[in-house]
Amino acid sequence: MEVTGNTILVTGGTSGIGRALAVALHQAGNTVIVAGRRQNLLDEIEAKYPGIVGMQLDVEDSSALQGFANEVQERFPNLNVLFNNAGIAGMEDYTADTVDVTRAKQTIATNITSVVELSAALLPHLRKQPKSTLMVTTSGLAFVPFPKGPVYSATKAFLHNWLDALRMQLRGTSVEVLELAPPYVQTELGGPQQAQDPRAMPLDAYTNEVMSILADPGKIEKGEVLVENVKHLRWAERDGHYEKTLEMFANF
Ligand SMILES: NC(=O)c1ccc[n+]([C@@H]2O[C@H](COP(=O)([O-])OP(=O)(O)OC[C@H]3O[C@@H](n4cnc5c(N)ncnc54)[C@H](OP(=O)(O)O)[C@@H]3O)[C@@H](O)[C@H]2O)c1
Repeated sequence: MEVTGNTILVTGGTSGIGRALAVALHQAGNTVIVAGRRQNLLDEIEAKYPGIVGMQLDVEDSSALQGFANEVQERFPNLNVLFNNAGIAGMEDYTADTVDVTRAKQTIATNITSVVELSAALLPHLRKQPKSTLMVTTSGLAFVPFPKGPVYSATKAFLHNWLDALRMQLRGTSVEVLELAPPYVQTELGGPQQAQDPRAMPLDAYTNEVMSILADPGKIEKGEVLVENVKHLRWAERDGHYEKTLEMFANF
């Protein structure tokens, strides 16, 4: 993907990785639309970065997605990049007497269903653009699951698998399919403490490395945007340390 001159929709653009990449892409000369539920953050971003447009969206509200997609296409006919990044995480304890899967169901709706639906709604438009990109945020946990977060990890494995299939279907069209698989990064995805966790990669460092990868197609193999820190997870099975990593995660 060219890192300038695009019109980019970033879901989950109100905080964390989505916000940081939205700002970096805006500064690199793209028209950027950020979507999320928190209107106060959308307002703050619009005020702080003139030119970025905020649009409120709850991706869990399946009935709103087609209308949202229509509105984006009408307001931004040059839209050529969909960055499906919104996501939530959670944990389930399958050893409990009562296993609560409320959060797990929300996680499936947010991390899987909405990504499939929004992509389906916008792909016909993306295919009409001379050059376009569908990028989706997965996780290093797509490749080695985090035992305390089985559904979260599995949603990301789903996306990885789904993206591989989509890339083949869309071969020969104008749509490039990219997978952004972050390592553990300092955001509030898992709660406020994560943003300070020294074991997690600083958000600025992650954002800068991703931008340098996006700017150099030679650094993207098979559509996967992988920073150095995530490669031990991405290649754990191939390189023979899957079991050891899974065991290590169990004690995390
Ligand atoms: N941080 C990590 O360690 C890490 C590692 C691997 C992958 N990831 C992935 O990176 C992506 C971004 O997460 P993050 O770490 O940056 O955490 P974050 O700061 O919590 O960002 C999550 C974003 O998703 C949005 N979102 C959540 N539910 C939504 C909904 N129902 N409708 C619309 N937007 C929704 C949030 O916006 P609102 O609350 O305003 O709606 C927020 O902008 C996620 O897909 C996550 O799984 C993160």
